Amino acid sequence: MWIFSSADNSKCPFFIWNQWCLYYAAVVCLLFSHVKTDDVCPPTCICARDSGTVTCRDGEDTEVPGDIPEWTSTLILKGRNISTLHRGAFMVNGTEMEITILSLSYNGIQTIEPYAFLGLPRLHLLDLSHNQLESISARAFHGLLELRSLYLNYSFLPSATAQLSNALTTQSLRNLHRLELAGNRLKSIPLERLDIYNLHALVLINNSIENIGGANISELYQQRRIRVYLSLNPFRCNCELEAFYYWLKNSSMCPDSGRLLCREPEAKRGIPVEMLRGEDVDCVNENLEAVSYVFLGIVLALIGVVFLMVLYLNRRGIKRWLNNIREACRDQMEVYHYRYEQDSDPRLANVAV
Ligand SMILES: *[C@@H]1O[C@H](CO)[C@@H](O)[C@H](O)[C@H]1NC(C)=O
Ligand SMILES: *[C@@H]1O[C@H](CO)[C@@H](O)[C@H](O)[C@H]1NC(C)=O
Ligand SMILES: *[C@@H]1O[C@H](CO)[C@@H](O)[C@H](O)[C@H]1NC(C)=O
Ligand SMILES: *[C@@H]1O[C@H](CO)[C@@H](O)[C@H](O)[C@H]1NC(C)=O
Ligand SMILES: *[C@@H]1O[C@H](CO)[C@@H](O)[C@H](O)[C@H]1NC(C)=O
Ligand SMILES: *[C@@H]1O[C@H](CO)[C@@H](O)[C@H](O)[C@H]1NC(C)=O
Repeated sequence: MWIFSSADNSKCPFFIWNQWCLYYAAVVCLLFSHVKTDDVCPPTCICARDSGTVTCRDGEDTEVPGDIPEWTSTLILKGRNISTLHRGAFMVNGTEMEITILSLSYNGIQTIEPYAFLGLPRLHLLDLSHNQLESISARAFHGLLELRSLYLNYSFLPSATAQLSNALTTQSLRNLHRLELAGNRLKSIPLERLDIYNLHALVLINNSIENIGGANISELYQQRRIRVYLSLNPFRCNCELEAFYYWLKNSSMCPDSGRLLCREPEAKRGIPVEMLRGEDVDCVNENLEAVSYVFLGIVLALIGVVFLMVLYLNRRGIKRWLNNIREACRDQMEVYHYRYEQDSDPRLANVAV
């Protein structure tokens, strides 16, 4: 009967209805004697047995409640100050739980220790969004073999992103279908150790991805089922974007492709990546252009040098030629001078009259 004490204290003022209460409790105990001891709802939580849901909000607790009912299939903890998820944090008394949905958003979680989700073999969905993860063990997700959806939106501090790619392993998460990593300031896809073969959706919205390299693109081509969401990333639209650009145009594996915008260079800021032209991302073209300018410069320089050499080698001839010209000019001038003097002689003018 101690099981129901927390519920019955308010209904039965013990000091007045002592006997009646005992009787009532005994009847209830008899009726439910086959039910196990897990009918207690943890303090500060709301338990809905019909739907199998336990919801615990905004408590002072800094730990996961230790007395979660055994029938729980959905556990929601929100707005609590849980800084560390310890090993086996969700096992009650060392036994496995039947939980399939676990939502841990907005709990200020900073550290996830190895084997934190031990004893949850049926877990399908895990939501760790909106936390402040600084440290996550490479074995944090160990044993989540049935996990289909993992939400990690807005949950990482930049210092933890390297640890994240170590924690996302095929060994731990072999049935993962949906992975959401929005708003984590990621610069690349953190899936070095996760086989994307089973993945259907990869959400990378609002990160710091400037480009996705050719190696990653060919890996994506091999798994045509996957959909990759990439809007709100600062794409750098130079010729290195070529592989990504054609993947975007040809593959239809990026459902939000129309919303991807260039951040750099300045001249292309705000232009949709899809609207670029082939020559904007053509490194061969770009290099050819640069090469042709260099070539033109060299040719011009050569012409100049040849011209100067001709001048130098002919300096005697040029001198002679200049002298000749000067001489010719002088002769001409003298002739003029002579004529002028003759024309202006007044006596000659009188003679003519
Ligand atoms: C959360 O708990 C830690 C101690 O575990 C405390 O230092 C911190 O101030 C608490 N934060 C909030 C927002 O309550
Ligand atoms: C927890 O385990 C202890 C001993 O291992 C046992 O006595 C107790 O009944 C268990 N409690 C529950 C709720 O299963
Ligand atoms: C992030 O995670 C939540 C679950 O908490 C989900 O509902 C949401 O669609 C996710 N995506 C983005 C981009 O926020
Ligand atoms: C993108 O993420 C930043 C934090 O990383 C956040 O401040 C901003 O509101 C987000 N933008 C959108 C449109 O969600
Ligand atoms: C993406 O490329 C990086 C190297 O640039 C590599 O380490 C990583 O494994 C690749 N990821 C995928 C999913 O191909
Ligand atoms: C993508 O399409 C363009 C033109 O439609 C083609 O030139 C290019 O080779 C294609 N690339 C791949 C990798 O299929």
